[in-house]
Amino acid sequence: MRAGKGRKIKFVGLAHGETSSGIVQRIEDYRKVADELGALLVVDAVATLAGIPLNVAKQGIDICFSGSQKAISAPPGMAPITVNTRVEEAMQARKEPVRSWYFDLTSAMNYWGKERLYHHTPPITLIYAMREALRAVLEEGLEARWERHARNQQALIAGVEAMGLELFVSNAADRLVTVTAINIPAGIEDGKVRRQLLDEFNIEIAGGLGPIKGKIWRVGLMGYSCQETNILLFLAALEKTLHDQGFRLPAGAGVAAAIQNYQHSAQPVAVGARK
Ligand SMILES: Cc1ncc(COP(=O)(O)O)c(C=O)c1O
Repeated sequence: MRAGKGRKIKFVGLAHGETSSGIVQRIEDYRKVADELGALLVVDAVATLAGIPLNVAKQGIDICFSGSQKAISAPPGMAPITVNTRVEEAMQARKEPVRSWYFDLTSAMNYWGKERLYHHTPPITLIYAMREALRAVLEEGLEARWERHARNQQALIAGVEAMGLELFVSNAADRLVTVTAINIPAGIEDGKVRRQLLDEFNIEIAGGLGPIKGKIWRVGLMGYSCQETNILLFLAALEKTLHDQGFRLPAGAGVAAAIQNYQHSAQPVAVGARK
């Protein structure tokens, strides 16, 4: 299959977890499209790596990149990236040199490889921080970490729904575990609620972007911050804030529903708790 004007499509790309909407994409559907096109599959796993199941090799991802600051919970500033041999071959077969020094993966690979040809000065402190964060990920276990994220989101959803609020993503299977989008109830001012949550409870949630600005809140559950204590605190804080803004809701219903949800799921473990 060819793009307009007879040009071949080389890449199919997607954001695995769409932070802007709280939607998770099915990588396998995009793999099929890429195969039909004879194209490489590029996956942005910034919001998903170490938070929800992802298997680069099994899912047939040719290029996968992420960020250090989300579910890995290292400081921002690094972007882990992996490419497979198909991509290496495509890069080596380039007729034109890469125009951007910064984005030239062929040079970066010569730097990482045996030749050690200079490409950039390594951010040593970030590399140490990343190593420590990955050690914590492995100590917890990737699968246990995925489960922790899922369990905490289930409790959050139970709490939010018990408060009479609705989720932006109606189909449960499409919901991104690491970002929960909540519809802002009619008559409630987005900015005021987020300001009060921050000022009074030191909790920061995000608003909507573009056409859904003012219509949704986005609650991130990523890595270290994805903990039972934070869920319960957030639900209590949201209830108090909404109440102050004039939204009438059943007292304590959100926290009660979340506690009940935790009781029905496996025993939650606080991150960093001694075993
Ligand atoms: C899905 C996704 N991709 C890419 C980015 C950009 O990451 P960075 O801010 O590290 O450049 C973000 C940031 O929030 C994101 O959520």
